[in-house]
Amino acid sequence: MSYPYQVRSKEEYEEAYKRSIEDPEGFWANVAQHFVWKKPWTKVLEWNFKEPSVKWFDGATLNITENCIDRHLATLGEKPAIIWEPNHPEERVRTVTYNRLHKRVCQFAQVLKNNGVKKGDRVCIYMGMVPELAYAVLGCARIGAIHSVIFGGFSAQSIADRLEDAGAEYIVTADGAYRGEKIIPLKSVIDDALIGNKTVKRVIVYTRTRTPVSMIKGRDVWWEDEMERVEEQAPSGSPGGGEVQAHGQPSEESATDLNTSQSRPGAAAKSPHRGDLEGLAVEMSAEDPLFILYTSGSTGKPKGVVHSCGGYMVWTAYTFVNVFQYQPGDVHFCTADIGWITGHSYIIYGPLAAGATSVMFEGVPTYPDAGRLWDIVDKHKVNILYTAPTAIRSLMGFGLAPLEGKDLSSLKILGTVGEPINEEAWHWYDEHIGKKKCPIVDTWWQTENGGVLISNMAGITPSKPSFATLPMPGVQPILVDEAGVEILGNPAAGNLCIKAPWPSIIRTTYGDHERCRQAYFSTYENLYFTGDGALRDEDGNYRITGRVDDVLNVSGHRIGTAEVENAINMHSAVVESAVVGYPHDIKGQGIYAFVICPELHGGEEATRLNIIQTVARIIGPIAKPDKIQFVSGLPKTRSGKIMRRILRKIAEGETSAFGDTSTLLDPSVVEEIAKGRTLP
Ligand code: PRX
Repeated sequence: MSYPYQVRSKEEYEEAYKRSIEDPEGFWANVAQHFVWKKPWTKVLEWNFKEPSVKWFDGATLNITENCIDRHLATLGEKPAIIWEPNHPEERVRTVTYNRLHKRVCQFAQVLKNNGVKKGDRVCIYMGMVPELAYAVLGCARIGAIHSVIFGGFSAQSIADRLEDAGAEYIVTADGAYRGEKIIPLKSVIDDALIGNKTVKRVIVYTRTRTPVSMIKGRDVWWEDEMERVEEQAPSGSPGGGEVQAHGQPSEESATDLNTSQSRPGAAAKSPHRGDLEGLAVEMSAEDPLFILYTSGSTGKPKGVVHSCGGYMVWTAYTFVNVFQYQPGDVHFCTADIGWITGHSYIIYGPLAAGATSVMFEGVPTYPDAGRLWDIVDKHKVNILYTAPTAIRSLMGFGLAPLEGKDLSSLKILGTVGEPINEEAWHWYDEHIGKKKCPIVDTWWQTENGGVLISNMAGITPSKPSFATLPMPGVQPILVDEAGVEILGNPAAGNLCIKAPWPSIIRTTYGDHERCRQAYFSTYENLYFTGDGALRDEDGNYRITGRVDDVLNVSGHRIGTAEVENAINMHSAVVESAVVGYPHDIKGQGIYAFVICPELHGGEEATRLNIIQTVARIIGPIAKPDKIQFVSGLPKTRSGKIMRRILRKIAEGETSAFGDTSTLLDPSVVEEIAKGRTLP
């Protein structure tokens, strides 16, 4: 058995589940003992959902990066931690061994320190998918700074809001990011975000695309210069292994890897890097915050979900090893972006805590063609592929031609995350990618959860198309009705809640604990409310049916309807708007906006484009409405509340069965809106 906490059979799952519920403290202490703690805990779990207050492994101290890197060096030092696949397939692959990762993370931690970053400071990271992004994340964790990664698809305004909310004083970014044929000018977006900002003291800029940037004196510094300075400050006794190519061949350092000029790649691999920089690993309390990640809710601006060091580490490693049934030496490829929780937990922290090899992909699945993911699988002999239903549906749309000549025989396990997977996509994935020999894990979880909560374990517990199936050990899902009464027995349908805390449950929303209570712990007493609806079949398998609140899931991205409405309403011609989701073949959900706009400057089409542009500016391109329908009024109750239920029906194509409209101020408006529906 490769991991002492790995469940290897259905019986072991059942036994682990039972123990985890009967004796959660004993169960998790048993798992946690397999990690490196600087001080042991005094209490495994203390909690109440009223405040809420959840403490796991209280009293214990650790540094998560020592668990993700240092402790593997003696045995896995020259094994690849990260295999980086660039956007352009002709560019050199970079394989970052555990030794090299250690060296880079220590160096970057020193760079942060040199630039004034201290434990508890917030560092915003806005980068593309390059290994330096992982170094930045782990460098923060090394010195106890709180990282807040922002996805490259968010606009300057969104970044500005997050910087302000987090009180961030430091930014790590790049000149640009490659994304298929496009270059996203990251630094320039950051410059826009910083107009009027008074808190940010330092911006560290990595060179990736050679996009021209304006470096501001006293504020902006180059990543490469800073790394070089550290290299000169504390020359390491040993270079600690190089970045080698995927197939074990020593490689040349790439043009962008300027800071590595003094090291000898691939050489002197015997003794791992042990420099002065090692001492940078700050002793963190288990409950100290590790990172903030912003996510959308049904009201207001995105919330800063806070995860803590100890519980998050234990949960991501435990779920990584069990859900994907990772075996040492396996190559794991999660296609998510590190800007989202999936990338945090299953590209960086979970795999590295387990000493795994994690593939990090800079590009998009359709560039240079729709066979890109399959090429990567073959090139790196990927064993575990973890992707999103929207990517599967989009690739399905290209037919089977992109699969011609692809081997895919290295694959052992497939996974999906982010949204419900429809049966057609599930079967296509099973048949054409897994060749009917790879178990598919349908993993349900959320930013607030830190890691997978409901999923089958690959090859251990049965899969069922479109069902996430069974809870992980330690997770107690229940279904409740609108009044919060538990729905017992099977089958059942209701709102999905969780009864007790698992180690990586959200601790707070940054700077506003009451908001955390309101959003997750106040709807139903003593329960964590997920915001999702679910069904439970005769065998206790869960099927997630989607959000029951005003949150959209567009291509697996969470977007609040209120957020999009606020952005649309910023357009000068707009009086009011209402946004709902509608079924979309590829994205899962599309964004449908009903907009009141008394004067259409330049005509309907121009106004539509202007509104889309406004949303892209305020939130980012990911929130652009797919459809905009101009209306003269919205269906409102006498108290002024918009009846979204009706708008959702119209967006879905319903023309007459709108249910009870008698409470509407002006029922005639419904007919008018239905007539004007923007057809797909
Ligand atoms: O509605 C659920 C859906 O995605 C939401 C969480 O989104 P986010 O915080 O962005 O995290 C996504 C990646 C973990 C959930 O409330 N969701 C996530 N996974 C699944 C899912 N819906 C159905 N099946 C899933 N496997």
